[in-house]
Amino acid sequence: MDAQLAQLRPTAPHTGSFADCLMAGLRKNPKEIACKYFYDAAGSKLFDEICELPEYYQTRTETMLLTRHAGEIAALIGDGAEIVEFGAGSLRKVRLLLDAAKAGAYTPLDISGAYLAGVVRQLAADYPHLTLRPLVGDFTLPLDIPALPGHSRRAGFFPGSTIGNFKPDAAMALLRRMRGVLNGGGLLVGVDLVKDPARLHAAYNDAAGVTALFNKNLLVRANRELGADFDVDDFAHYAPYNPNAHRIEMYLVSRKRQRVTIAGEHFDFAHGEAVHSEDSHKYTIESFREMAVRAGFRPRTVWTDAERLFSLHWLES
Ligand code: TRP
Repeated sequence: MDAQLAQLRPTAPHTGSFADCLMAGLRKNPKEIACKYFYDAAGSKLFDEICELPEYYQTRTETMLLTRHAGEIAALIGDGAEIVEFGAGSLRKVRLLLDAAKAGAYTPLDISGAYLAGVVRQLAADYPHLTLRPLVGDFTLPLDIPALPGHSRRAGFFPGSTIGNFKPDAAMALLRRMRGVLNGGGLLVGVDLVKDPARLHAAYNDAAGVTALFNKNLLVRANRELGADFDVDDFAHYAPYNPNAHRIEMYLVSRKRQRVTIAGEHFDFAHGEAVHSEDSHKYTIESFREMAVRAGFRPRTVWTDAERLFSLHWLES
């Protein structure tokens, strides 16, 4: 149906371009890069490869939970509802819901317009009767998603433990803002769980090195889009688990003393200096439900696997 890409309308002024954000982050001490910039078309493809890795149990486990409980979830979402997905990526997981639910409409939001256009075309071919409203934009900004005529009921879908990529205060604020656009509908959230640190470490340090390529794609992207002169091989991927903070911390570490130039500005890196690129917070089922309550939701059903690797939460507005 209508698969034109529309720009998501943020209700607040834009927070700046990749260039502004990257350069501001590299002027800080310690240096950092905002993780949403991972997801250009190349980064989104690399992320899909991560999801297939043997060490990355998250996607497999969440997909199994969605498959196993699709009927129950569909009943909670309700017939004819609009499913709004935050950071939709490959659109693979929502298919499990669309197959089980008699959803009337689907609104995928994603930051990568080029990637979204391709996957939406395929979805539209596979679900010819679904009203599709792809939106390109940054769901971390305050959102305004106008109601679709004929679809008053809404449900949110936020899989992949993307919620873990926000610091707990920001995660709570984000849930609260999502609740604000659901018009009283529920939210289905995927949350990765606290577990053996070795298992977590392996998931972000895969043997094939795909996660390293994904992390370094930030630098590749800066070179391509901003004419920066990063020598990508002079940075190392480093992603340890910090057990007291319950999170994987991801860095790009300079392998030598070096200077990088972006838009005429020089950035100096000491040998061994780290640029922080991502956090991935892990929750217990209880700690996540507590956060959802603080965000104004009523946590209802939780689904988890036998090993308690991953959890899916249905939160009522
Ligand atoms: N939401 C995913 C997670 O935290 C994102 C992710 C997986 C990721 N692997 C990554 C982000 C590697 C950056 C680098 O698990």
